[in-house]
Amino acid sequence: MSGELDPRLLTRAREVVAAITGFREDAIAAEAVDRVMRSELARGRTPADLLGELLYPSSTLATVLVKAILVGETYFFRHPEHFRFLSREAVPAVLQRGSLALRGWSAGCASGEETYSLAACLQASVPHGFPVEVLGTDIHEASLEAARRATYGTWSRRESAPRLFPLYTETGEREVTILPAVRRITTFAQANLLAPLPERFGRFDFILCRNVLTYFTPAARDAAITLLSRTLNPGGWLFLGAVEVDRVPAGMVREGPPELQAFRLLTPEELNARAAAAARAAAPRPPVAPVRRPPPPVAAPAREVAVAPPPPPTRQHLTALERIEEGDEVGASSVLEALVRQAPDYLPGLLELALLRERSGAREGAVPLMRALRTRAERLPPDQLVDGPEALPARFYQASADAYLNQGALE
Ligand SMILES: C[S@@+](CC[C@H](N)C(=O)[O-])C[C@H]1O[C@@H](n2cnc3c(N)ncnc32)[C@H](O)[C@@H]1O
Repeated sequence: MSGELDPRLLTRAREVVAAITGFREDAIAAEAVDRVMRSELARGRTPADLLGELLYPSSTLATVLVKAILVGETYFFRHPEHFRFLSREAVPAVLQRGSLALRGWSAGCASGEETYSLAACLQASVPHGFPVEVLGTDIHEASLEAARRATYGTWSRRESAPRLFPLYTETGEREVTILPAVRRITTFAQANLLAPLPERFGRFDFILCRNVLTYFTPAARDAAITLLSRTLNPGGWLFLGAVEVDRVPAGMVREGPPELQAFRLLTPEELNARAAAAARAAAPRPPVAPVRRPPPPVAAPAREVAVAPPPPPTRQHLTALERIEEGDEVGASSVLEALVRQAPDYLPGLLELALLRERSGAREGAVPLMRALRTRAERLPPDQLVDGPEALPARFYQASADAYLNQGALE
């Protein structure tokens, strides 16, 4: 099918992809978006129907679009300097703190080469039998299925990246399979870097998040780094890809040469020492005749402040989503109505209630909510992430309201 597509449709599709992934506009391949929308239209769908589906970030169409733009390029022991540094410096430092197990996370792992490389590196860096666990996550489920198969071709082994630790065995002419000992300590799960990792995955001593954030807007990148750092154990390490950040993330220190992009979360003892030093520096100079004064208060470590529970509106919103899932739309509606009354600036609540009303045929009740959503979203910087079950930028809410209120134009 050739010819021009309605530009509003393409713009909306790109906005949805950007909101879900955190990608910058210029990192979203226009041809991929164009291809998906054309194939939907070729199946007989109307532009209005597609726009309607794109109001939901969890819709099938949004998922298809996201898959179409992701880049899954990866290989074993990519950036070998990270694995050398891990083995020589980071693992001994964590062991010295008395850890009884090592836990690693490869965040944005694509088809798993990075995850297995991390597992092999950690396993080879501790005494035999010392517990090691490694998690690989990605937004793209099909990549994770490939990772779980643990069988790789020649493309995953590059000359530029040496095989630093025992990792695989040859099982075919051009095929290798990950060693059982490495596989046993490795698991995979789907997760978006813009949402907090569920508590059940626990905390980590080492996180690799490389060649992912490079596609993100600055706001999405900062939000992802904050979430990553909240899952680190005190003294835990974060390794980013080249040029992915221009400053040291909050609560962390840079380790190794700058090009390594390796950061370590400060321990409570280090934070206390820093707070005490800052309090000493800020204390007034002692008067000529010394006066007895109580010791300066030691500020609480910044890390404790950072790990705040989800704000109440998000909690109420999650309750409403549970009700919707159970088929109790009336119950969901009353939770959302109370939420919108109490927190009229909570954009995800306005959108959720508007969509719920639209689904139940009460368009006249949805329109004022969409108008309120648009007005409030317009007041925020477009890239500002808005708290909710998913952290989505303000531009997503504004564009959703626009798309809804202008729907008639496409029908
Ligand atoms: C270029 S690969 C990098 C793989 C590996 N980290 C490496 O350096 O070899 C980027 C991966 O990030 C994933 N990704 C992109 N946006 C994501 C997001 N918002 N949350 C989780 N994964 C994401 C993609 O699906 C892709 O598999």
